[in-house]
Amino acid sequence: MTNDSHSTDAANLAASARGAELASDYTVSLHYDQRMYKQDIAGSIAHARMLGRQGIIGEDEAGQIIGGLVTVRTEIESGDFPWNPELEDIHMNVESRLYELIGDAAGRLHTARSRNDQVSTDTRLYMKQAGADTIDALRALQRAILGAAEANIATVVPGYTHLQRAQPVALAHHLLAYFEMFDRDATRFAAARKSADVLTLGNGAMAGVPYPIDREFVASELGFSRVTANSMDGVSDRDFALEYLSAAAISAMHLSRLAEEFVIWSSEEFGFLALSESYTTGSSIMPQKRNPDFAELARGKTGRVYGNLLSMLTTLKGLPLTYNRDLQEDKEGLFDSVDTLLATVDVSAGMIAGAKFNADRMRAAAESSYVLATDIADYLVGKGMPFREAHVIVSALSDRLIDGGRYFEDLSFDEYLAASPLFEADVMGIGVDFSIASRDVQGGTALGRVKDALEVAKARLKEAGK
Ligand code: ARG
Repeated sequence: MTNDSHSTDAANLAASARGAELASDYTVSLHYDQRMYKQDIAGSIAHARMLGRQGIIGEDEAGQIIGGLVTVRTEIESGDFPWNPELEDIHMNVESRLYELIGDAAGRLHTARSRNDQVSTDTRLYMKQAGADTIDALRALQRAILGAAEANIATVVPGYTHLQRAQPVALAHHLLAYFEMFDRDATRFAAARKSADVLTLGNGAMAGVPYPIDREFVASELGFSRVTANSMDGVSDRDFALEYLSAAAISAMHLSRLAEEFVIWSSEEFGFLALSESYTTGSSIMPQKRNPDFAELARGKTGRVYGNLLSMLTTLKGLPLTYNRDLQEDKEGLFDSVDTLLATVDVSAGMIAGAKFNADRMRAAAESSYVLATDIADYLVGKGMPFREAHVIVSALSDRLIDGGRYFEDLSFDEYLAASPLFEADVMGIGVDFSIASRDVQGGTALGRVKDALEVAKARLKEAGK
């Protein structure tokens, strides 16, 4: 053997070792599924207890298994657990450690179970908690919105369409629009939670298991309200995750709209609000800057939350029944959406609570504009003119005002009269406050309606248990 061929052999060996390492790395999910350790251990404890009760394994063995699992949990929580990525996932890590701790009895835990029904049960348990946490966070955000609405109840702001000043509204009315969005989001997360709330243990690898198990017992131990009706569907269904991901995408979209308003409103051009210092950052070069980075990130992170939904939909679309390893790809994006959404909801609540609204600036923006045009047209309608005709007259009037750099408030009564003989002296009383007060309908911006809406919103939050 020449030196040359010797070194080639060594290189080949090193390359194949690297290949093997890469190949095993490729299948490892431990770094992201270890966050389900609590759920995995709880599932195993319930399963072992059931196996013992049913006489499928000895009661003493069940007891040893449960004791060992409690130790495993303590080890994980105290940071003493010997994690081993070569064992691929959380399930194998826990089971293997159980062997080390209790010996042979550990071998009986996986009776009447497969990692397929196990991982699904763990993920469902995790998502039930994540759903509850998300709803709690949204309720806190809604509370912050109510707080800001109440604290600024007398504040007037221009309402916009096409980002053009359209009609004056109460700031509280504007804020309460977001209360409604987050209320619907909470409803969607509750529905996703309900879909996750089904026990899949007992489905085995996919056909069910040949042991006299008690699925209802395991379900009640783990707090599931139902058990799956079809084992093949059970081990391969991930719609419950898709439901969370789509609710998250919609909620992230709402959060992004709110963030966008905060970015615009805190700009020098608008100056409608000042963000609290904890939610802005300075520029490294421009000393005068207070950048709305938190709002921008809340807006920016929407992209990955959308992406996680699309990637899971794509992963699932071509899978034949039942379990395929592709399903392992369900977790990273899902957890990322949970983390991203929870953080964004918290930041948004803090941002609203800390924002200082500039009432003078908002009122001035409403007054130095043409937002009263609709009210003047509505006035003529009140005097008997068809709305379309009134629209033409007021359009001409506002064109003239815009040309002359004046506002409706600057018009003299004679100028009104020249535009239409239907105008009477009371037209001079039409201002921003009149405009708001006149929208006295359900869902409208009249102050009384907004105050009622605030009370209803508070009652709804209370009813939701927050
Ligand atoms: N880590 C796997 C996952 O997340 C666990 C299930 C493995 N099942 C199997 N048949 N290989 O999906």
